[in-house]
Amino acid sequence: MESVQAIKQRFGIIGNSTSLNRAIEKAIQVAPTDISVLVTGESGVGKESIPKIIHQLSHRKHNKYIAVNCGAIPEGTIDSELFGHEKGAFTGATQTRAGYFEVADGGTIFLDEVGELPLTTQVRLLRVLENGEFLKVGSSKVQKTDVRIVAATNVNMHEAIEKEKFREDLYYRLSTVDINLPPLRERQEDIHLLFRKFASDFALKYKMPTIKLTDNAVQVLLKHRWGGNIRQLRNIAEQLSVLEQNRTITAEVLRSYLPVTAGTNLPAVIKTSKSESDFSSEREILYKILFDMKADLNDLKKLTLELMKHGNTKDVEKNNETLIQKIYGDDENEETLNYEEPIAPNTEVLSIPEHAAEQEEIIPVQDKYHFAEEIEEEETLSLHDKELELIKKSLERHHGKRKLAAAELGISERTLYRKIKQYDL
Ligand SMILES: Nc1ncnc2c1ncn2[C@@H]1O[C@H](COP(=O)(O)OP(=O)(O)O)[C@@H](O)[C@H]1O
Ligand SMILES: [Mg+2]
Repeated sequence: MESVQAIKQRFGIIGNSTSLNRAIEKAIQVAPTDISVLVTGESGVGKESIPKIIHQLSHRKHNKYIAVNCGAIPEGTIDSELFGHEKGAFTGATQTRAGYFEVADGGTIFLDEVGELPLTTQVRLLRVLENGEFLKVGSSKVQKTDVRIVAATNVNMHEAIEKEKFREDLYYRLSTVDINLPPLRERQEDIHLLFRKFASDFALKYKMPTIKLTDNAVQVLLKHRWGGNIRQLRNIAEQLSVLEQNRTITAEVLRSYLPVTAGTNLPAVIKTSKSESDFSSEREILYKILFDMKADLNDLKKLTLELMKHGNTKDVEKNNETLIQKIYGDDENEETLNYEEPIAPNTEVLSIPEHAAEQEEIIPVQDKYHFAEEIEEEETLSLHDKELELIKKSLERHHGKRKLAAAELGISERTLYRKIKQYDL
């Protein structure tokens, strides 16, 4: 059996991340069988080399390999492209034509963007997969074929199934083995390696000296989100190679080629599949936030007690200056205290920004006076009761609209949500 390294060399695949090696290894293992394989991963991650490897390492290698981009063929002609048609099957069908499944008999068909297949085509495909039978369009004669299918998709198939855009039975039939290629940002060690390879390729192609990144530029490269993955990286390397006179690329120059939106590799607010290690680091951040919050709460309790004892806001403020600053921050930082992290609607937040710990503002500065006034009225309610009452009142005032209540209370919607749960409101 050929080694992963040899395969990479043979198919021009650059990179040495564990996930990439694992994907190639899986392809090598399933190649000699006729098992259907579904290659998954974002656009530009290199899905197309997997079916080629599988075909080349299989007993089918001397027969045809046909790659079909299901998303690029119009819905009206796709059945005819795949299964052929009978003369007179539709206007313009002047001759009987063989489809890919007939032509590729004994070989492999790669169905790229398989999630785009129309439902009627999915029915035909399921039949071929189950018993090797198909009908030409406009014909009632059952034909036999022996084709191995490798499919690829960059869409969430479970979602497509839920929305009834993709047949569940076909999905399971196609994905007997699933080979996933993770996005480039999760293959950190491969990013610079790929860039150097592309830079040297383009230098050769355009007969110019190879571009080179400064250390800072390498950092920018590593931190970028690479939404278009390797295709985008290659594109940037080409642009730089062609356009930059100075062959040493600084961070600033590189940045000017990168799209501004979603530029960095910060944890996204998008639902993504996560590895166990990602969860554990998130858990750590959450613990830290909880501990910080607990400490803040203790400080607040202490302050409340002082206020209740002395009753005089000014004195208490003076004597507890550091404590107040610790809880509320400097007045100069008022803005950061009131800063609320935007949350995209309808997305599940799985990640917390690195600076989240600095953001778990509970009560903004202006409210501390408000708060003190209440105490001056010699109300004997505990801090918890007080808070509960405030939240209740505010929610009532705003007819349960959390967003408005949170704004009035000067807390984030998330904090309010947490409190509603905590107090079982
Ligand atoms: N590991 C890799 N090493 C070198 N080039 C790669 C690698 N992965 C992808 N590419 C290149 O990136 C581009 C996009 O790859 P492709 O297989 O078309 O992505 P996908 O089908 O997942 O959208 C192609 O030009 C491909 O040659
Ligand atoms: Mg592709």
